[in-house]
Amino acid sequence: MRIDIISPLPELVESTFKTSILKRAIEKKIVKIQCHDLRNYSSNKKKQIDDYSYGGGGGMVLMVEPISKCIEKLKNEREYDAVIFMTPDGEKLNQKISNRISQFKNIIILCGRYEGVDQRVRDIFINMEISIGDFVLSGGELAALVLCDSVIRLKPGVMSNSSCALSDSFQDNLLSAPIYTRPENFKGHKVPKILLSGNEKKISLWREQQSVNRTKKLRPDLLDKE
Ligand code: ADE
Repeated sequence: MRIDIISPLPELVESTFKTSILKRAIEKKIVKIQCHDLRNYSSNKKKQIDDYSYGGGGGMVLMVEPISKCIEKLKNEREYDAVIFMTPDGEKLNQKISNRISQFKNIIILCGRYEGVDQRVRDIFINMEISIGDFVLSGGELAALVLCDSVIRLKPGVMSNSSCALSDSFQDNLLSAPIYTRPENFKGHKVPKILLSGNEKKISLWREQQSVNRTKKLRPDLLDKE
């Protein structure tokens, strides 16, 4: 899978791919990440990428030209399954969306900054708009990283235990069962006996029950989802 990330602050994104599971996925060539500095696509000597909003109003708006140049260059090089814009008014990210995107071969993720982007960018180039929640970040970069992490960990070979990603919370609209490791007894707080029983069938049943109970208690809304 190839992910092209377009941003006015590519350093913010790049640093995260130098550690952890994401770094491993890149080293194993399961995913290729290419970050593009929007300023390199400005036709202006000052490398300007934003301008005042027509009609007045506060902040600066990312201009259509540099973004268009960058996306068109990429599209001339290969086909993309999706051109995604990270924005608080997009569709709220969930496991189903991450699963779907993890099947794509090539995607572009555009990160906005300032007040937003010229609407024509969204009208012409964007075919998926994703929010990571009902709050406003100062830019799309952190949201893009959240999306990338949730997608990349689903690719076969990324997690050391391949069944892990599939048993995550939300994969079946259920939260995960509680998990424990040593010691068996921490200041009187004991690991549930069933987990020490060695009876796989009983453990699996217990985990299922715990999942359902936890979901009912903490996220009953998930149980209504298809
Ligand atoms: N950009 C700013 N806020 C965002 C959010 N909540 N989700 C996605 N992109 C964003």
